[in-house]
Amino acid sequence: DLTPVETAPVEIGILGGSGFYAFLDDVTEVTVDTPYGAPSDSLFIGDLDGRRVAFLPRHGRGHHLPPHRINYRANLWALRSLGAQQILGPCAVGGLRPEYGPGTLVVPDQLVDRTSGRVQTFYDGVPREDGRIPEVVHVSFADPYCPVGRQAALAGARASGWEPVDGGTLVVIEGPRFSTRAESRWYSAQGWSVVGMTGHPEAVLARELGLCYTSINLVTDLDAGVETGEGVTHEEVLAVFAQNVGRLRTVLFDVVKGLPAARDCICSHALDGLETGLDL
Ligand code: ADE
Repeated sequence: DLTPVETAPVEIGILGGSGFYAFLDDVTEVTVDTPYGAPSDSLFIGDLDGRRVAFLPRHGRGHHLPPHRINYRANLWALRSLGAQQILGPCAVGGLRPEYGPGTLVVPDQLVDRTSGRVQTFYDGVPREDGRIPEVVHVSFADPYCPVGRQAALAGARASGWEPVDGGTLVVIEGPRFSTRAESRWYSAQGWSVVGMTGHPEAVLARELGLCYTSINLVTDLDAGVETGEGVTHEEVLAVFAQNVGRLRTVLFDVVKGLPAARDCICSHALDGLETGLDL
């Protein structure tokens, strides 16, 4: 059911965020179609230290897809169809605490969904383009991120001399607008750490396919409720991301090297004993 390609299977998938359009230099570009439509762009397959990696820019190469228009299901399905079992999801976020200023790297361990209207499941009972009808499946999502991937991300960041924030809550808003000061103050008052626009439904869709997912958040700004100036601008987000994308890429090299070849985490067992109807 999954579309094979003429290359060895991929192990690791990376979904690049704003301003992150290339991961490895020596890559094979493949186009992948899925039963959910087209992913954000071609996928770029390359080798890093003997690990086969597929990179997909989640907003498309020219950043033409706003967060609410991304076909998250197609993106996750495409990576999985190439063989990816572990997904790294770097993304730009706003800081919800004064000490999480631009340039802070956060590896969250929790997520709050404040999106609306996004398709957030493969198991919606709707027949797919290929005629397959998914079963009703309720995955566990108490701990939304892969515990093993998180440790690899923290170790990879430290190896590059970037002291990461270990844990915290990523709140995902619908966007594409930034938050009002009142919304932002509310998020901070809840004790949430960072705010972004793409972390949901990416993580849950990965879990629904039994994939590991690790969220890696680069703070590009202090969100409106925390800073005292004019509020966040898109230019600011892109500029800070651009300043940090080089070292983020270096961190990801170390993270990829630190990911285990064999999995035995909660994610790898997410579908144990479940009938999905999707030939996973
Ligand atoms: N991405 C980067 N900065 C952000 C912010 N302040 N709010 C939501 N998403 C963001």
